[in-house]
Amino acid sequence: MSSRLPGFHAMPIRERLRAIARLCGLAPEETRILESGDGLSLDQVDTMIENALGILPLPMGVATNFQINHHDYLVPMSIEEPSVIASASNAAKIVRRAGGFRADASKRRMVGQIQVVNCPDFVESRERVINQADELLNLANQSQPNMKARGGGALEIEARLLNHDVGDGTREMLIVQVIIDTQDAMGANVIDTMMEVIAPVVEQITEGTVYLRILSNYADRSVAYAQCAIPPQLLETARFSGEEVRDRIVTAYAFAEADVYRAVTHNKGIMNGIDAVAVSTGNDWRAIEAAAHAYATRSGRYRPMSRWLVGADGELVGSLELPMSVGIIGGAIGSNPAVGVALKILQVTKATELAQIMVAVGLAQNLAALRALVTEGIQKGHMALHNRAYRDLPMEAGHQHRDHTESK
Ligand code: MEV
Repeated sequence: MSSRLPGFHAMPIRERLRAIARLCGLAPEETRILESGDGLSLDQVDTMIENALGILPLPMGVATNFQINHHDYLVPMSIEEPSVIASASNAAKIVRRAGGFRADASKRRMVGQIQVVNCPDFVESRERVINQADELLNLANQSQPNMKARGGGALEIEARLLNHDVGDGTREMLIVQVIIDTQDAMGANVIDTMMEVIAPVVEQITEGTVYLRILSNYADRSVAYAQCAIPPQLLETARFSGEEVRDRIVTAYAFAEADVYRAVTHNKGIMNGIDAVAVSTGNDWRAIEAAAHAYATRSGRYRPMSRWLVGADGELVGSLELPMSVGIIGGAIGSNPAVGVALKILQVTKATELAQIMVAVGLAQNLAALRALVTEGIQKGHMALHNRAYRDLPMEAGHQHRDHTESK
């Protein structure tokens, strides 16, 4: 299947849905879920959250042109902001002509944490935890036989001594960390359960008191990476040569490296793409956001998540590496039928494959934003799409946008 679909964006929406249904083999029931926006029933919603009242629908589109590791993907994206999907598709079209994205992912390793206080001798307690690591790992794995059967589970125990003075004296603590392979699940529930199961034994071993038992969302051992290398001629616009656009993009990147006000906006653009795929695929975008921004500070200060440099042959080289703790099973994924349809459109078989796609989409989004910003500006394309979105709304809901359109 090719993700290059000329004329796709200009099709009427129902025709577009039919085209995707044909390409991805969606059943009539699956297209109906997208068409009606009622994949979730009220009764289901009532079991998912508390004080449930109803359902807030969100537009779902598909980004075209993505080629990652020589494989084509149609990428479902759910987002309310105009121009994000068009930008990702345009940037992916450029990168595709340059051979596509190269992407990779580390193994999936998540961290669970147990905070132990009041140990009579913290150094000795730490030693005892390390010496009894196997017992703790066995106990954790016995509580999750399915995870173990799928080849995942708790792998390693770490123990660290920390302290912090909050103003009333130093609070000392021992942090027991469990390294867990969650396979194709994001794994939050599995990890939290494991931590709660082993906590009483950790108390016995350490003779301390356990306070927190929870996963860490800082998934810096589950990272994904994407890269693209674009010959300058593919970047040219009506007003600027490809070399000029390339050099301006590198200077825009330098701005983000030098200034946190710009770095945050630069990174927000990257997360536009990543979050939209996370929402479509039923993943916890707050967890992804929290980890991504922490990872952006790993050198000691907040920096742009991506890098844009000139390569040895004058090509524009972009790269992005981020923690990407995502799943394709478990969590909210099974409970929302529209997510199932999105995963069918995307056709991924492993969580690490989804992680690579998400990082490639983030990099594409960043390329599109920077290319627009250093040439015609963001407003021209963005506002054209924005006005399209509000043109047909009743006066009360969209009057500002309507006035703007009509004055043109
Ligand atoms: C808008 O949602 C995202 C941008 O501001 C990103 C950027 O400035 O790089 C266009």
